[in-house]
Amino acid sequence: MSETSPKLRAVLDGIPTYKPGKPAAAGGPVAYKLSSNENPYPPLPGVLEGVIAAAGNFNRYPDMACTGLMNELANRFGVPVSHIATGTGSVGVAQSLLQATSGPGDEVIYAWRSFEAYPIITRISGATAVEVPLTSGDVHDLDAMAEAITERTRLIFVCNPNNPTGTAVRRAELERFLDRVPSDVLVVLDEAYREFVRDEEVPDGIELYRSRPNVTVLRTFSKAYGLAGLRVGFAVAHEPVAAALRKTAVPFGVSQLAQDAAVASLRAEDELLGRVGSLVCERKRVYEALVKQGWTVPDTQANFVWMRLGERTAAFAAACEKAGVVVRPFPGEGLRVTIGEDEANDIFLHAAEAFRKEL
Ligand SMILES: Cc1ncc(COP(=O)(O)O)c(C=O)c1O
Repeated sequence: MSETSPKLRAVLDGIPTYKPGKPAAAGGPVAYKLSSNENPYPPLPGVLEGVIAAAGNFNRYPDMACTGLMNELANRFGVPVSHIATGTGSVGVAQSLLQATSGPGDEVIYAWRSFEAYPIITRISGATAVEVPLTSGDVHDLDAMAEAITERTRLIFVCNPNNPTGTAVRRAELERFLDRVPSDVLVVLDEAYREFVRDEEVPDGIELYRSRPNVTVLRTFSKAYGLAGLRVGFAVAHEPVAAALRKTAVPFGVSQLAQDAAVASLRAEDELLGRVGSLVCERKRVYEALVKQGWTVPDTQANFVWMRLGERTAAFAAACEKAGVVVRPFPGEGLRVTIGEDEANDIFLHAAEAFRKEL
């Protein structure tokens, strides 16, 4: 009897595996992880206590409807509970959005380079990815994205601010773009870094969603709220999109620990957003120091900076690692560096200065 392996879907063949940010090296003199846009602060005491209390019950399934968290979010954002859908991180919700809208023969548009999960989850859905290059300033080219829409387009991601470049699109251009998108095409405003935005011209997607039924906003507790390890994110979407998300979600995907921590984080928001304010100050310091050293860095509204280093990317990433900070290289293109602890940022800046002098 000849042995054959189980038949897998052909679309999986070309799909890259998601590449997580490299962890900091263990055992070195100093090692900081600036490769995954995480929040460097440890959990707030109140949040930690909530999680510890929930841990005593993890022999039970979580509340599948995420009732407490959904109510808290509805209050916090002034939206109906029925317009919220939660998931295992916002990437989990993004995958549910694709399952709900797109399949073979359909097209999904996003900027490139952008969040590296988009091509993966798009291809898994079977839909065709339509990648629209960023402008020369590393910003979404919304005119080109509007022109890429066809009758097969089902979903468009706008990552605002964009990962990995940190650049953000502003209100007037985003509204002009949304006006050009047919009402039966879903626009997903991925706002994973919304809390770090300080440019007042960058719109809050939840305000745009209110009057536009084809706009869905993705948010996460992984970045500003510091819950990356607990995996919880959510969408704010009109019906029937929100209802479809609840159908496609993995049952019990959001643990009780994550739900309780997210509720506690929303209640401790003042303190958490104070920490975000400190990171934004550090971002300014890092950005200005890099510019002073002579680097070209696009304006960033997120908790990271982007350096388009082309062929020198790998060498600079190695120099950073040697100095004690792990950053995120995209070989041949550029490097993303998360704003971390003050000391980590200092190490990175010294490495950047030394590398610059060798050029
Ligand atoms: C733009 C963007 N969206 C979504 C995510 C996913 O975050 P999570 O699944 O942790 O909520 C990330 C994480 O890096 C991101 O950069």
